[in-house]
Amino acid sequence: MSSARKAPSLRRHIVAVSLSAGALLFLLSGGLILFVSWSFMKSEYEGFLARSTSDLVGEYAESKGDLKEMRHFFDEDVEEHGADRIFLLLTDPAGRDVLNACADKTILRTMLSRAQRNLPAYRISKESDLPHHNRIVLRVKTTVLPDGFKLSIGHNVTADEQYLLFLAITLGGAFLFSLLLGGWAADWLARRFVRSLQNVSDAADRIRAGEWSTRVTPSHESRELVLLEDAFNTMCDQNEKTLTELKTLTDDIAHDLRTPLTRLRTAAEFAAMGGELNRPLPEMLFEQSSDMLELINTMLEISQTGCKLDRTPREDIDLCAFLHETVELYATVLDDQKLAINLDLPKESVVFSGHRGRLQRLLGNLLDNAIKFTPGGGVITLSLVRTASAVVLRVSDTGCGIAPEEIPHIFRRFWRSDSSRSLPGNGLGLALAKAIVTSYAGTITCESSLGKGTTFTITIPGDVN
Ligand SMILES: Nc1ncnc2c1ncn2[C@@H]1O[C@H](COP(=O)(O)OP(=O)(O)OP(=O)(O)O)[C@@H](O)[C@H]1O
Ligand SMILES: [Mg+2]
Repeated sequence: MSSARKAPSLRRHIVAVSLSAGALLFLLSGGLILFVSWSFMKSEYEGFLARSTSDLVGEYAESKGDLKEMRHFFDEDVEEHGADRIFLLLTDPAGRDVLNACADKTILRTMLSRAQRNLPAYRISKESDLPHHNRIVLRVKTTVLPDGFKLSIGHNVTADEQYLLFLAITLGGAFLFSLLLGGWAADWLARRFVRSLQNVSDAADRIRAGEWSTRVTPSHESRELVLLEDAFNTMCDQNEKTLTELKTLTDDIAHDLRTPLTRLRTAAEFAAMGGELNRPLPEMLFEQSSDMLELINTMLEISQTGCKLDRTPREDIDLCAFLHETVELYATVLDDQKLAINLDLPKESVVFSGHRGRLQRLLGNLLDNAIKFTPGGGVITLSLVRTASAVVLRVSDTGCGIAPEEIPHIFRRFWRSDSSRSLPGNGLGLALAKAIVTSYAGTITCESSLGKGTTFTITIPGDVN
C-alpha cells in the first residue's frame, strides 16, 4: 500500500505523456510549415531581385550609362511593379545618388548609406514615410557595374513577412489552444480508464475484507478493460467455488472421521469404567484406525493424482494381460459372492503408457463397486476396445443400478446414495477413479438403469500401441 502511494499516479502519467507527445508533434509540424513557407518566400524574393538586377544591368550596358535612358527604364519598372513595391537607386563610384526611383525618403537614405559603404544591404526594416506603411521591410540587392557605378534594387516584402508573422502567431495560438483541449481530453480519458482499474482494485479490497460475493460491474470503457473485469469476475467465481468445495470437503472429512473416533472413544471410556466390551479393545482400535487411515490415504491419493505437477514415471503396460491378472485377484471374492465375470478383450495386445499402481486402483474401485452393488447370481463384464486414437475400457454389472438424478453426483468426494450407506465405504472410490482418468486426459462416464445394472466407460486418448 505504501509503495503504491509513492508511485506516480497513472492518471497524471497518461496526461503528461499525451501532452508531451501532442506538443512535440505540433511543434514539429508547425516548425515545418513555417520553414517551408519562409523558404518558398525567400526563393521568390531572390528570384525577383536576380531577374530585376540582370534586366537593369543589361539595359545600363545597352544605354552606355545614359542617365536619361536609365530614368526611362527605372520609371518603366516602377510602373510595372508599383512605387511602393520596388525601389531603385544608382550611385556613382563616390557613393553619390545619381538616379533614383524611391517613393520613401527614409528608405532612400538607408539604401544610399548601404550602397556607399558597399554593404550587402540584404534585408532592411525601417519606419516608413509611405502612406499606410508604418514600418517597411525590404530585401535589397546591390550590384557594382563595370564603370564603378552601383545599382541597388529594393523589394518591399512587408506583406509577405507580415503574413509569415501572422502564420506564426496563429500556429502559436492553435498550439496553446490544443494544449489546453488536449490536456482536458487526456485527463477525461485517463479518469475513465483509471476509474475502471480503481473499481477492480476496490473490489479486490472488499474481497480481502471477507465480502466474497463482490464482483466488478462491467464498465464497457474499452475491450481490454472489459476483458480484465471479466477475467477478475471469473477468477472470483472460481475462487468462491473452490472455497465452497474446500469447505464442503473439510466438513465431509471431519464428519467421516468423527464416527470411528467417537466409536473408539466410547469403547475406551466404557473399558476404563470397568465395562466389558463385545470385542477386545486393541482389535477395535486396529479396525477403526485402519478405516481412518484408508480414508486419509485415499484423500491424499486423489489430491496427488490431480496435481498437475505430478511427474511419477510411466511404464508400458500390456492392458490385456493386466486385466487378466486383476480379475484373477478377484476370483475368490467373485466366487464367494456367486458372481460370474466375462472378459471381452481384443486379440492383439494393447500397450498403454501409464502407472500400474494407479490403473490397479482405478479398475479395483470399479470392480469393488460392481461386486458390492450386484446381488449373487449377477454378471460382471470387463471389455477393452482399441480405437485409432484411444483405448476404451468398460466395466458393466447387472446390479441394483443408480437413479438417473443421482448419476451427476457419483463422482463427488464422499457422495453415496442413501441406499448404499449401510454398506462399507467412504464414497471416495469413484472420485479417485475420476482423478486417475483425468490425469491421463481421459473421460469416465456412467450409464445405469435402476434394477438392471450399471456400465462405467473409460476413454483414454493418446499413447496406445
Ligand atoms: N456399480 C454400481 N452400482 C450401483 N451404484 C453404484 C455403483 N458404483 C457406484 N455406485 C454409487 O455411487 C456411490 C459412490 O461410489 P464410490 O465408489 O465413490 O463410493 P463407495 O463405493 O460408496 O465407497 P468407497 O469406494 O470409498 O469404498 C456409491 O455409494 C453408490 O451409491
Ligand atoms: Mg466404491
